[in-house]
Amino acid sequence: RAAVSGDLGRTAFRAVPPNRRDALVTPEGFRSDVVARWGDPVEKGAPRFDVRRQTPDSAAQQFGYNCDYVGVLPISGSRALLVVNHEYTDPNLMFPADVYDEDTQKRIEILSHGMSVLEIVRGRTPGSWLRADHTRARHNRRISARTAFTMTGPAAGDARLRTTADPAGRTVMGTLNNCAGGTTPWGTVLSGEENFNQYFDASGDLDPRYADSYKRIGVTGAGRGWSSVDPRFDLTTEPHEPFRFGWVVELDPSDPRSTPRKHTMLGRFKHEGANVAIAKDGRAVAYMGDDERGDYLYKFVSRDKMKKGEGAAARRHNMTLLTHGTLYVAKLVGDGTEDGYDGTGEWIRLTSDTTSYVEGMSVADVLIDTRLAADKVGPTRMDRPEDVEPNPVNGKVYVALTNNSNRGSATLPVDEANPVGSSMTRPSLGAPLEQKSGNRNGYVLEVTPARGDHATTTFTWDLMLVCGDPAAQETYFAGFDKSKVSPISCPDNVAFDSEGNLWISTDGNVLGSNDGIFRVPTAGPDRGKVEQFVTVPRGAEACGPLLADKDRSLFVAVQHPGEIDGATFEAPASTWPHTDDFPRPSIAVVYKHA
Ligand code: FEO
Ligand code: CA
Ligand code: CA
Ligand code: CA
Repeated sequence: RAAVSGDLGRTAFRAVPPNRRDALVTPEGFRSDVVARWGDPVEKGAPRFDVRRQTPDSAAQQFGYNCDYVGVLPISGSRALLVVNHEYTDPNLMFPADVYDEDTQKRIEILSHGMSVLEIVRGRTPGSWLRADHTRARHNRRISARTAFTMTGPAAGDARLRTTADPAGRTVMGTLNNCAGGTTPWGTVLSGEENFNQYFDASGDLDPRYADSYKRIGVTGAGRGWSSVDPRFDLTTEPHEPFRFGWVVELDPSDPRSTPRKHTMLGRFKHEGANVAIAKDGRAVAYMGDDERGDYLYKFVSRDKMKKGEGAAARRHNMTLLTHGTLYVAKLVGDGTEDGYDGTGEWIRLTSDTTSYVEGMSVADVLIDTRLAADKVGPTRMDRPEDVEPNPVNGKVYVALTNNSNRGSATLPVDEANPVGSSMTRPSLGAPLEQKSGNRNGYVLEVTPARGDHATTTFTWDLMLVCGDPAAQETYFAGFDKSKVSPISCPDNVAFDSEGNLWISTDGNVLGSNDGIFRVPTAGPDRGKVEQFVTVPRGAEACGPLLADKDRSLFVAVQHPGEIDGATFEAPASTWPHTDDFPRPSIAVVYKHA
């Protein structure tokens, strides 16, 4: 591959030290621009953002709150589509006091969830990008609670998916709590519906038929009060509405009139995201994490093979790949030796689109209550599996395991794949390390599919990184010299550059510093050399990340800047990106200074 100036996979940089600055900090020689902020116009008729004059209608046309997943799909040499998830809302930071009534706030919050598609254009410096004029961007689109989604796969239309508004159980308005995601080899975007359980209230009793199901996924009836503005969020009268969330969503951003879909074949749980690799025989394999303490890693293998080419027929076919196939859950066994944390594993079948492999559960049962199904087959309870992504260069799969404060307890003992039961943290930057129970800093797990084929059902694995302060005894950086790495805590999302380097974003750093983004070689003498490339502003988590444009651009989603305990609109912990006197979750692009 010809070297390109500004290639972030190859360029050396001086690691950004841990800090608490209210800034997006990059290494010397690099700069960042804000591409899209909460409230920026997306759809053609979107009004100008005014934080004191927000309305549900404006929110439905403007860039939503708390950007998370970032996809970039080129549409020409100078233009691309930016696809972003809006995971959740924080009324304390979104609304000035005494401006809005509660129900108006709720309506604005509902419509500030979802996704955005917006055209971006190259800036002057290679690697830089700007938001295109939204009035001339025909792909621009806000996906919100006003957008209809079609349910696909074997559980579509199941009695549990039927509601007053949708007696057929096949059409759902909106998508909620979209966290990470992935761009498919056929040019669509997948998005995971994660903590959807929090949106449902109960005006009375819960339906006893669903007690086990609700309990396993955390649907309690203690919601956000949204039922006062939309009755579908009342479990007592609409017990099925929660079954319509917790899916992987597929969006075709190239067609602004396309109907996004929720794929039941990929199971229902707290989906962090989904990333697709193509098996040797051409089938699509989607890797997925269920982000909860003690939950599981999953993969789906399609029945049909991907068709190559850009033509409409190939595209139509590939858009069906996630509707038929087999869903698996992972079991990891340590080898019991002292040579590091590693071992073997297997993918255990849960169901195909026609046959359930879980006793006493139908295909639809397995897909709708995937956690309950998996519980029956003995998979490995992991420390919050977040983003799971195949590395296109070495064919291995990388899993961000954020943390687990319960690990090491009687109900969740350590094992070789989850070996840390107490770890060192730092209450503030520069303070001495303190021991806390549980796995507080997380891991990066490396999975090697048998014969290098993503469709196989066995694999080997190793913990490439045991995160934390390198000074802490429990940490491990793939054997790299611990005196030469950046501290890293709570890995959340992962991405790769064309060299196969791993890029990691963090959420919830417990080492006293702001969160950030790190580059780590996965091969060669520098394997395990974790270097901090970016820190995000105070109170924010770092999302995305995504390398684009021949690796000259690093897209970063700065989610919930200023969100610390007790922060309010009037007293935020951050005002980033410093265009206003309050924080605005935004997408930024980092590139080499010209
Ligand atoms: Fe939304 Fe698991 O992070
Ligand atoms: Ca071992
Ligand atoms: Ca996440
Ligand atoms: Ca990712």
